[in-house]
Order: sequence, then structure tokens, then C-alpha cells
Amino acid sequence: MQDTKIALIGYGKMGHLVEHLATSHGCQVVMRLDSKAKHDGGVLSANALKGVDVAVEFTNPEAAPENLKALAVAHIPTVSGTTGWYRRLPEVQQAFEKEGTGLVYSPNFSVGVAVFRRLVTEAAKMLKDEADYGAWAWEIHHDAKKDAPSGTLLHLVEAMKAAGYSRNVDLSSSRAGKHPGTHEVGFDSLADTITLRHVARSREGFALGALKAARWIASHSGVHTFEEVLFGS
Ligand SMILES: NC(=O)c1ccc[n+]([C@@H]2O[C@H](COP(=O)([O-])OP(=O)(O)OC[C@H]3O[C@@H](n4cnc5c(N)ncnc54)[C@H](OP(=O)(O)O)[C@@H]3O)[C@@H](O)[C@H]2O)c1
Repeated sequence: MQDTKIALIGYGKMGHLVEHLATSHGCQVVMRLDSKAKHDGGVLSANALKGVDVAVEFTNPEAAPENLKALAVAHIPTVSGTTGWYRRLPEVQQAFEKEGTGLVYSPNFSVGVAVFRRLVTEAAKMLKDEADYGAWAWEIHHDAKKDAPSGTLLHLVEAMKAAGYSRNVDLSSSRAGKHPGTHEVGFDSLADTITLRHVARSREGFALGALKAARWIASHSGVHTFEEVLFGS
């Protein structure tokens, strides 16, 4: 099978890591764009992206929506890992749907976190009517991370609410050092404490998940979460 040809939109820490792992995971990076790739015409056009199968986008919350809309118009299936821009998700989603271009987006491309979210959902479902239990959600990341709480933590709490857990979930974040990311959800009562915790050991898991999503979206259309890639819709 032929390698999936990738354009990296954003060539920072994640872009470099995706490139480093690409060839051993069925992909080949054929283009790298950094902050000069603003959607000011040309750089993200269909013509400029000729020969690209999939764009993998890891930029920043300000840049992501406009870059993504340009990729939708250029009909380049896209994987977006940037966090902190989801209030603009409806307009981005609409652009991909209107153009019939494929998109996978996720605040966290770790397979382990996807499984963790399912476990958190189950716990929330089981404890939703146990009023003695209060809940918290906490995360820690390196001090260069721009958004807090992390998109992943918000996504976890969203899953708890969707599972029927309607009581307060106390949210907190820490930013220190070079930490690649820990997320914790806990439930506490007079009788006991339940702690669910995911610890990322490095950023590699995110890059591997993004490459998995890139191979998948190359042959799919529509707008999808990473969980749909892993577990089906
Ligand atoms: N979903 C996940 O699994 C996951 C995992 C880790 C991180 N993230 C998120 O991914 C994003 C990137 O993280 P990072 O650690 O790679 O950040 P980073 O090291 O700061 O890299 C950001 C890159 O984006 C480029 N950029 C900025 N504006 C751009 C634009 N308009 N068009 C194209 N490129 C542009 C920057 O270019 P210059 O160098 O020229 O400024 C830089 O190369 C963050 O939002 C982070 O929270 C997500």
C-alpha cells in the first residue's frame, strides 16, 4: 500500500514529532508550513497543496479556524489536533460539510485517553444518582501550554454531563515544567474515594494517534472525532 502523503500545518513540537514517526507508520511528510502559512490566499490553496493526501494541523487557537476553513475549500482531508478553538467549531464543521471534505478533530489523539474517557463516562453513569459523591477533574501540563483547563479535561467533563452526572464537577489546572500531560477525575464520599488517572509518558502517543487518524481520513468523508476513528460511530 502507498504511503499517505502529509502536509504539516504547524511545524512546532507536534509537527516535528509527527514527521519523526511518519515513515514508520505508513505516511510520508511532503510539505511543512509554519506561521507564514496564514490563510491570506495561495499557501493553503488546492493548487499549492497538489500531491498532498492529508493535512495534519497542530498550530494555535487563533490560527486553527481560518487554516481549517481554507483546507476545507481546498478539499484536503484534514486531521486537527490544535486545542482551544472549539467555540468556532460550528463554522469550521459547516465549511467541511459544505465542501464534502473529511475532518478528524480531537483535543487529544492518545488512544489511552480515548479509552480513559470511556471509563470516566461509565463511572459518571454509575454515580449520577449517588448524591453522597462529589466529583473533581484536574490536569497538569508543561508551562508553555496556552489554554487552561485543557481541551481534554473539558471534553472529559462534557462526557460526564452527557452520561447524566448533573452535580458540580470541581475543575482545576496546573502549569509547571515540561509535563506532557496528566488528567484525573475523582469521586469522593464520606466512605471512600475513587480516582481515575491518565498519565501521558511522552508526546509520542499524540503523534501516533494523529498519524492513525490521517491514514483513516484519507479514505473517509465527513466530520469525525478520534473516538469514531477508534471505536466506530
Ligand atoms: N490533540 C492532541 O493530541 C495534542 C497534543 C499536543 C498538543 N496539542 C495542541 O497542538 C497545538 C500545537 O502544539 P505544539 O506543542 O506543536 O505547539 P508549538 O510548538 O508552539 O508549534 C506551533 C506551530 O504552529 C505554527 N503556526 C502558528 N500560526 C500558524 C499559522 N497561521 N499557520 C500555520 N502554522 C502556524 C508555529 O509556527 P512559528 O514557529 O512560525 O510560529 C509553530 O510551528 C496546541 O494547540 C496544543 O495544545 C494537541
